[in-house]
Amino acid sequence: MSANQAPISAPLPASNAGERRRANAYDVEAIRRDFPILRELIHGKPLVYLDNANTTQKPELVIEAEAGFYRHDCSNIHRAVYLLGERATEAYEGARRKAQAFINAAHEYEIIFTRGTTEAINLVASSFSRMTLQPGDEVLITGMEHHSNIVPWQLACESTGAKLRVVPITNEGEIVLEDFERSMNARTKLVSVVHVSNALGTINPVKTIVEMAHNRGIPVLVDGAQSTPHQPIDVQALGCDFFALSSHKMYGPTGIGVLYGRGELLEKMPPYQGGGDMISSVTFEKTLYNDLPYKFEAGTPNIAGTVAFGAAIDYLTTIGMDRVAAHEATLLEHARRLFDGMKGIRIIGAARERGGVFSFMLDGVHPHDVATLLDAEGIAVRAGHHCAQPVMDRFGVPATTRASFGLYNTTAEIDALADGIEKVKEMFR
Ligand code: ALA
Repeated sequence: MSANQAPISAPLPASNAGERRRANAYDVEAIRRDFPILRELIHGKPLVYLDNANTTQKPELVIEAEAGFYRHDCSNIHRAVYLLGERATEAYEGARRKAQAFINAAHEYEIIFTRGTTEAINLVASSFSRMTLQPGDEVLITGMEHHSNIVPWQLACESTGAKLRVVPITNEGEIVLEDFERSMNARTKLVSVVHVSNALGTINPVKTIVEMAHNRGIPVLVDGAQSTPHQPIDVQALGCDFFALSSHKMYGPTGIGVLYGRGELLEKMPPYQGGGDMISSVTFEKTLYNDLPYKFEAGTPNIAGTVAFGAAIDYLTTIGMDRVAAHEATLLEHARRLFDGMKGIRIIGAARERGGVFSFMLDGVHPHDVATLLDAEGIAVRAGHHCAQPVMDRFGVPATTRASFGLYNTTAEIDALADGIEKVKEMFR
């Protein structure tokens, strides 16, 4: 135990998730014991980690899976005939099958490993755009996108002469479906929409959006970075053509994520990057590309991170995403009761369908000061524009303080946040 860890009463098993599943109960205290960092003291106080939209903490079994790869199985994949190479390849491809099952993709080859959601969207913006966009064509996004679902499209539009069109958001932080419908036309070549807003918590009706777009023959990309860690995802039921997600928001390592794409579209799309593993043969005259998914996975990937991501998927699957969603709904309800009536606080975003994200402003206190003072209480929240500057502009604020919940948070931690906010208000009175 390090000097800055709180004492614990008993040694911890790597995971007791299996036992919990059998017992069919959501035991948040048992889940918390799976996460070593939750025993850290911050400024001498227990860590209250409420920055899960930024990144999540990692359970012991994920940390062990990454270390275990380097200890026991380290080799490159797809190109070593010795036993370690076979083990590494099997572990890497096993993670692909886990990701496929987790989001219910129809085929293993529809799972492309990327560095994360950002790279997944950049892959589509680069490859699909080169194949599709002509001057005057349009790409449709919403006013609540993260920068990673804005800038790649700006780049694609700059290089093709296409136009980026934006569906506005309401004062509640919602999109109006009629506006969406009106914004699509014969030149719209792709809709790219966030599933759950990282800045507002809004859950968008992506299934309906997909249906509306498909009625006009327009493919849809869903940015699932903030939905996949909090609810069951079924890409076939959503009907989307592309879906992007990040491991590090799902209790897995950073630097690894997934682009799901419908096989039929991925088959037609040109490679995103060139290099090893994405080819079937190379001569100076002509290169033939590898089959899916390898056509889009140039170079040696983050193998250990992918294997550990597979462990994070196992962890979430064992707990059950339906139960994660139910637990987080109780946290949201608790937070609503506390914050809705609180004086001197302005909550940014009041969508009817929302996830566990609370963006707020305290009267007369800069969001960064709020976050710094909360940190002194051991409470980690994010302050800033949350990589969604157009959302801040829409609500006329430079930044917000944001608390975002995860599967290990408790109502007591939300109480601690409310107490911390009261303290900040007191200091600035
Ligand atoms: N998109 C991440 C966040 O919302 C980084 O904090």
